[in-house]
Amino acid sequence: MKKNIFPADFLWGGATAANQCEGAWNIDGKGISIADCTRIKKNVNKKDYKSLHEIKSEDIERAMATDDTVEYPKRHGIDFYHHYKEDLDLFQEMGFKTLRVSIQWTRIYPTGMEEKPNEAGLKFYEDLFKEMKKRNIEPLVTLHHYELPLYICNNFQGWYQREVIELFLKFCKTVYTRYKGLVKYWLTFNEIDSVFRHPFTTLGMVPDRFPKDKFEEVVYQSLHHQFVASALATKYLHEIIPEAEMGCMITKTLSYPENCHPQNVLLALKDNRKNNFYSDVQIRGAYPQHIKNEWERKNLTIHFEKEDEEVLKKYTVDYIAFSYYMSKISSINEEGKERVSGNISSSVKNPYLDITDWDWQIDPTGLTTSLIDLYDRYEKPLFIVENGLGYNDTIEADGTIQDDYRIQYFKEHISAIAEAIEEGVEVMGYTPWGCIDLISMSTCQMSKRYGFIYVDLDDDGNGSYKRYKKKSFEWYKEVIATNGNNLLD
Ligand code: BG6
Repeated sequence: MKKNIFPADFLWGGATAANQCEGAWNIDGKGISIADCTRIKKNVNKKDYKSLHEIKSEDIERAMATDDTVEYPKRHGIDFYHHYKEDLDLFQEMGFKTLRVSIQWTRIYPTGMEEKPNEAGLKFYEDLFKEMKKRNIEPLVTLHHYELPLYICNNFQGWYQREVIELFLKFCKTVYTRYKGLVKYWLTFNEIDSVFRHPFTTLGMVPDRFPKDKFEEVVYQSLHHQFVASALATKYLHEIIPEAEMGCMITKTLSYPENCHPQNVLLALKDNRKNNFYSDVQIRGAYPQHIKNEWERKNLTIHFEKEDEEVLKKYTVDYIAFSYYMSKISSINEEGKERVSGNISSSVKNPYLDITDWDWQIDPTGLTTSLIDLYDRYEKPLFIVENGLGYNDTIEADGTIQDDYRIQYFKEHISAIAEAIEEGVEVMGYTPWGCIDLISMSTCQMSKRYGFIYVDLDDDGNGSYKRYKKKSFEWYKEVIATNGNNLLD
C-alpha cells in the first residue's frame, strides 16, 4: 500500500472506560454503580459466554453488603484515579492525539437522583481533561459505558422506566456545561447493541425481576429509552457546545455466510442487518421496517410517546464509532459444529482464522470489510474506538514484556484500516482498547491484558500498581510518529 494514506489529522490514541480503570469506587462522594457489583470469574468456560454475564438479585444484595475489592476488582481498577498524570505522561510519550475515557455518572450524581452535582466528581474530570489538553491529547468521552448508578438499577428497573431518560439528560447537561471548551468528541451509549447479550451491564436490568416470557419486550422497551436518550443527548450537546460532535457506538459483529449456500448467504445478510439496526436508528433516525415486523410477529408491544419518532428523526449523530474484535459465521445448520465464543457472541468456528486464548477469532480483513460496509451504508465519518488482543502477558525478570503477538495483531489491523481508506472510506481515528492494562469488562480479570503499558497487579488484587512499557509501546509510538507510514511500502 502506498504511503501517506492516513490523513494528517488522524486521531491515533487509545481507549479506556472509567469503571475498568479508575478504581476509587467509594471516595470523594462517588455512588455505587452496577459495575462495582460485578464479580471476578476466574475459571470460566470460554465456550459459554452467556454465563459470564449472568446476574441474579441475590448477587446484587451480596455486592451491596460488602466493601470487598478483591472479589469486585472494578472497585480498585488500576487506580487511574490517582495515577492519571503519570499515565497521561506515558500516553503523551507514545504520541497519542486522543484518549477515550468515560465519565462515571455516579461520580457526578451518586444515585442519579440528586438535584445538585457532586463537585469533587466534576473537578476530577475537569482536571483530567485539562491535563490531557496540556499534553495535546484530545479527550474522546463516553457518557454511558456500563456504569449505571445502582440506585437506578434497583429503583427504576434499569432503563425500563422512562423517567431514567430525564435523569440521564440532567447528567449530560451538567457535564456539557462544565466541560464546554475542553471536550469536542463525545459518544452516547457504549455498544448499545449489547442489550440482549448482557442486559444487566448495558441496561441495568436484572432478569429475575421480570416475567420470563416478557423479557424480550422489556429489553426492547429499555433500548427504546436509550435511543430517545441518545437523540436528546445529541440535541443538548449541539445546543450547549455547538462545535462539539456526537457519535453513536456499536459493536461491529460482522457475519460471513458459512458457504455459498443461498440460505447461508441470506442468513448472514439478516444477521448483519440486525447488527446494523442499532446504528440505523441513531444515524437514519428511524426504526427499520424489519424490526417493526419482528415486534408484530412476536407480539411485542413497545410503547412510544407521541414525540419519540420526531426526536429520533431530528437529532441523529454526527459520526459512527464502533468496536471491532472479531467476525462471526452464519450457518443454517450449526448442529455438531465446532464453535468459538468471546464476550461478544458465539458462532460456528471459521476454519480460516486463528483464535485468541479467550476464544475470540482474529480477523483483520473483517475490519476492512466492516469499514467499507458501514461507510457505504451511511456515508458518515467512522471512528474505530476499540480493537485489541486480550493476552496473559509475562513480565520477564528484567522488567520487559515481549509482546510480539500484540505487535503482529496491530500491524495487521492498522494495515486493514489503511486498505479501507484506500477504498475511499473516511476514518477519523483509531483508539486500541485498554491501551493501558485494565480490568476486563466480562471476566473482571486483570490477567486478560490489552495494553501497551503493563500494570503490576494480579487477579487476586496483589501488586504494586507500577507501570511498565511493553515492547509494543515503542512500536506503537513509531506508528504514530510516522502517521502509519512505517507499516506501508
Ligand atoms: C468491549 C467493551 O465490549 O469489549 C469494553 O466496550 C471491554 O468495556 C472490551 O473491556 C473487551 O472485553 P473484555 O471482556 O475482554 O474486557
